[in-house]
Amino acid sequence: MKTLLVVHHTPSPFMQEMFEAVLSGASDPEIEGVEIVRRPALTVSPSDMLEADGYVLGSPANLGYVSGALKHAFDVCYYPILDSTRGRPFGLYLHGNQGTEGAERAVDAITGGLGWTKAAEYVIASGKPAKADLDACWELGATVAASLME
Ligand SMILES: Cc1cc2nc3c(=O)[nH]c(=O)nc-3n(C[C@H](O)[C@H](O)[C@H](O)COP(=O)(O)O)c2cc1C
Repeated sequence: MKTLLVVHHTPSPFMQEMFEAVLSGASDPEIEGVEIVRRPALTVSPSDMLEADGYVLGSPANLGYVSGALKHAFDVCYYPILDSTRGRPFGLYLHGNQGTEGAERAVDAITGGLGWTKAAEYVIASGKPAKADLDACWELGATVAASLME
């Protein structure tokens, strides 16, 4: 059994919609042998990261960067997982309308340092997520989860 870890900071109903769409895609019945584990970014531990085989990260754009919560997750986990998680697939969804490029750049830099592999296009939404945004979140979850199937 493989494990997909969803590390998310979900401070609002709109972001909850995106989170749930990602989970729904990741748990599609056609994807077999992949367990979904979800962890709020402020609670995720290096063990959670090490025990997973792939990752979906979810964050608002705050102050033109990823949320402090997601930054905290990597502040805590980066060195303990460095070199042990190289090559693992990941995906990202962001919510915000200004400065999402800064958040993307941050995730590119962090995941680049870890040697993770981008398994799907990033999903970026603002305001109330449209159906197309939620469909993209569903696809994101399904794509990263399916990439773990043996
Ligand atoms: C401290 C702080 C900084 C923020 N900075 C930004 C920002 O730079 N760009 C942006 O689009 N939204 C910013 N926001 C708004 C969040 O991104 C927004 O709350 C989140 O995307 C959820 O959106 P919603 O509350 O409309 O559902 C910020 C929120 C907080 C609390």
